[in-house]
Amino acid sequence: MDTPLDGKVALITGGSRGIGKAIAASFLAQGAQVMITSRTAETCEATANELGDGCHWTASHVAREEDAERVVGHTVSELGAVDILVNNAATNPYAGPVIDADVARWDKTFAANVTGTLVWSQQAWRQHMKDNGGAIVNIASVGGYVTHPHIGSYNITKTAVIQLTKQLAAELSPNVRVNAIAPGLIKTDMARFLWEGENGEKAAKAYPLKTLGEVDDIANAALYLSSDASGWITGHTIVVDGGGLVSFARV
Ligand SMILES: NC(=O)c1ccc[n+]([C@@H]2O[C@H](COP(=O)([O-])OP(=O)(O)OC[C@H]3O[C@@H](n4cnc5c(N)ncnc54)[C@H](OP(=O)(O)O)[C@@H]3O)[C@@H](O)[C@H]2O)c1
Repeated sequence: MDTPLDGKVALITGGSRGIGKAIAASFLAQGAQVMITSRTAETCEATANELGDGCHWTASHVAREEDAERVVGHTVSELGAVDILVNNAATNPYAGPVIDADVARWDKTFAANVTGTLVWSQQAWRQHMKDNGGAIVNIASVGGYVTHPHIGSYNITKTAVIQLTKQLAAELSPNVRVNAIAPGLIKTDMARFLWEGENGEKAAKAYPLKTLGEVDDIANAALYLSSDASGWITGHTIVVDGGGLVSFARV
């Protein structure tokens, strides 16, 4: 795939591990400078050192508007731009039926996953993209399209991210393209309880492609949506799920 990001600056929330780290590595390989951010300074620093030249880091909390303003400002002043924003950090603090969800964890999930996506997009728009253009990629989930007995609250936030992607695409065009990715089950820390041990083998069998996803599957889609190769696409969510969404009804 010929999708160079030479000269571009990308800001990736939750870039210290998992999917965000893979996206950072992929963007660096395509010539971008990358700012990764997450709550834990030590992990950010270690990841930036591991990924090498062109990878910068700043610690922040995705749900805090003041952190979004500070990190976007820091990226623009240090690296000269925020051409690409990947809203990747998310949380899933509650497992159980939505009808029993406590408001504290419901609010926490919405604050990180939905409000976080909004405020980082607002800051990227205000501090750079409004005048210079850019691309925003939101990491949603296939959960945003379906119900689930345990992670319904999280899934509802991802439905909101899919709709927010459409809304912002309409509002920010033609300067800025806004798209999303809906991953199926990917082997990261966040989803460990769904794929470790027997759970994983069972889940993989339910996918038409008979495997769970790897972080690079999502990084490849993020690279496409961030580059000029997808220059006529905005407002859409690409499902990257081994065919899961079209087959679960048959399992
Ligand atoms: N893995 C899957 O199966 C799957 C499927 C569908 C969608 N997704 C989505 O993919 C994205 C990445 O998930 P992942 O699986 O790569 O998770 P992960 O491996 O647990 O990584 C999450 C990243 O986000 C950071 N983070 C978490 N909470 C944060 C907060 N409040 N503020 C700032 N940073 C925070 C983490 O660092 P710190 O903890 O140090 O802050 C870490 O860098 C999420 O949007 C998730 O919903 C994942």
